[in-house]
Amino acid sequence: MSEIRALPHHTFSVAPMLDWTDKHCRYFHRLLTKNALLYTEMVTTGAILHGNSERFLAFNKDEGAVAFQLGGSNPEDLASCAQLVEQYGYAEVNLNVGCPSDRVQNGRFGACLMAEPELVAECIAAMQSVVSIPVTVKSRIGIDDRDSYEELLKFVSTIASSGCNDFIIHARKAWLQGLSPKQNREVPPLCYSVVYQLKKDFPELNISLNGGVKSLEAATDILQYVDGVMVGREAYHNPYLLAEVDRQVFGIATDIKTRHQVVMELIPYIQEHIFEGGRLHNITRHILGIFYGVAGARAWRRCLSEKAPKNGANEAVVLEALNSIRL
Ligand SMILES: Cc1cc2nc3c(=O)[nH]c(=O)nc-3n(C[C@H](O)[C@H](O)[C@H](O)COP(=O)(O)O)c2cc1C
Repeated sequence: MSEIRALPHHTFSVAPMLDWTDKHCRYFHRLLTKNALLYTEMVTTGAILHGNSERFLAFNKDEGAVAFQLGGSNPEDLASCAQLVEQYGYAEVNLNVGCPSDRVQNGRFGACLMAEPELVAECIAAMQSVVSIPVTVKSRIGIDDRDSYEELLKFVSTIASSGCNDFIIHARKAWLQGLSPKQNREVPPLCYSVVYQLKKDFPELNISLNGGVKSLEAATDILQYVDGVMVGREAYHNPYLLAEVDRQVFGIATDIKTRHQVVMELIPYIQEHIFEGGRLHNITRHILGIFYGVAGARAWRRCLSEKAPKNGANEAVVLEALNSIRL
């Protein structure tokens, strides 16, 4: 992680995705890009304070710059968790104000907090008072009928007044009733212009745009208007996109690894995981898309999907799957 960076990590980030961006996924993504900021899955304050906190917080230094995303709305609990996040070595703590799931709404956090900017500001202030890493917010552009630009301005200015400088905005609203979380990532239309306008109105804030970015060309275009781009599903399904991020986005003259190289670099990590009693599938489920668009990709996926979940499966399955790919 020693390359000189001209641009801050948040210029390009991989989105927090529950059940997807776990430590194995982040380790894999880090083999592809040294500079992008990676996000954890959302973890609730309750899980950290009343559960096995080590399980959620354990941090592998090889993951580089990682932002830890918290879900919660109790300022004291969030502050306690933020302190732990910093102690464990994360580069940033982020508050989830964008998730619309029912479970999250019942806990009074996630996207429904967009209706309570003062509470969010209080949460941010409480976290900032105990850590020195950046405390950031990930939100939508609105919720339900509260989706006017004025409402968003109030949200951002209220939270910025608590000292928060970094906002990641998923450029679509969320409906709190009637849509599943998946539909809420697809049905409400993307409105990049709203996020661009926010940057014009708050030039001093770091504004990152999220939602629907499918290529580095699109990301570079968006970076003309805002400070950062966050990519979610495309980075997960087509992770080789990340191989060119250091060069194309961060402007670093670095060699671009081949897909085979990346998989081979993962082998020692897989061996260690299995040696410690882990299952092959825990890791390989995140690498199914590495050969996306390449001849043999289907056989690669099939081999991993069928054989990796079996008892006793080890790295030999990955090497066998690699043979499906024509060089
Ligand atoms: C499987 C999955 C899980 C997600 N979990 C989270 C989460 O834990 N926290 C969060 O803020 N957003 C979560 N999201 C939303 C993404 O972070 C992102 O905002 C959304 O997918 C839009 O970006 P994209 O179009 O680049 O995928 C999740 C998305 C997916 C597909």
